[in-house]
Amino acid sequence: MRIVILESAQAVSHRAADIMCELLNDKPNAVLGLATGGTPLATYDELVVRYNQQEVSFAQATSFNLDEYVDMSPEHAQSYHTFMRENLFRHIDIDASNCHLPDGASDNHWRACEHYEQLIDQAGGIDLQLLGIGTDGHIAFNEPGSSLASRTRLKALTEQTRRDNARFFDSLEDVPRLAITMGIGTILEAHDIVLLATGAGKAGAVRAFVEGPVTAQVPASALQMHPNVTVLLDEDAASWLVRTDYYRQVEAVQRSLET
Ligand code: PGA
Repeated sequence: MRIVILESAQAVSHRAADIMCELLNDKPNAVLGLATGGTPLATYDELVVRYNQQEVSFAQATSFNLDEYVDMSPEHAQSYHTFMRENLFRHIDIDASNCHLPDGASDNHWRACEHYEQLIDQAGGIDLQLLGIGTDGHIAFNEPGSSLASRTRLKALTEQTRRDNARFFDSLEDVPRLAITMGIGTILEAHDIVLLATGAGKAGAVRAFVEGPVTAQVPASALQMHPNVTVLLDEDAASWLVRTDYYRQVEAVQRSLET
C-alpha cells in the first residue's frame, strides 16, 4: 500500500481529484467506483471545480457506487442516490444512465445484488475505486466480520455505524438498519483503489488496517492483499501510525521517480 500523509484534509481531496482526473484524461471512458459519506465530499467539490475549468470531462465515464440503504426510495433526501445526484452528478457532464447505485428499493434484494455484480462485469470492471473508512474499520458497508471474499449483498449495519451516520438523519431511529453493499471481494477486483481518511476520529481504524493483521474484524485490512492501493491521509488520521517516517521517505522517493 502506498501511504501518503498530507498536510490537510483539503490536500487529501486535491490529491484524490488529481488521481481521478489523470485517469479520466488517459481513459475518458473509465469506470469509476464512487463512495458516499462526509469524507469524499471535498473531493467531489474539487472535481466539480476542475470540470468547470474544463480540466476534465466525465461525458464517457461510467460510475458504480459502493452501497445504498435498503427500503429507501432513490428520491429520499438521505438516499445515496440523492447524495450522489446533489453532490456530484448534477454538476458535471456524466450521463445519468451511466451512473449506477445498488437498488435498495427493489422488492427482490437478492436479485438486485446479483444484477449489480453483472452490471459491473458488463462494464469491464472498475478502473478506480474510491473508498472511505468507517470508525469500525468498515469499507462500504462491509462491517467487521464480513467475509473477505464477500460479493454484493445485504448487510446489517452495526450500531456504531448507525450512530456515526445519525448526523445525516433527524434521529438515530431514522437511520436504516440494512444496506446493499458491494462485497470486499467485489472491491478487491477494482484495478486501482484510493482510500481517503481525514480527522482524528479515523486514526484508530487507519492504524488497524495499515499496520495490523489482515482480519475480517477490520474489513479495510483486506486492502493489504491488493497490489494497487493508495491511502491518502491527513495528519490527524495518520496520527496513530507507527512507521510514518518510513512512509514519508518512500513517498518522497516515489514522487521523485514520477517527476
Ligand atoms: P464518512 O464515512 O466519510 O462519513 O466518515 C466513511 C464510511 O463510513 O465509509
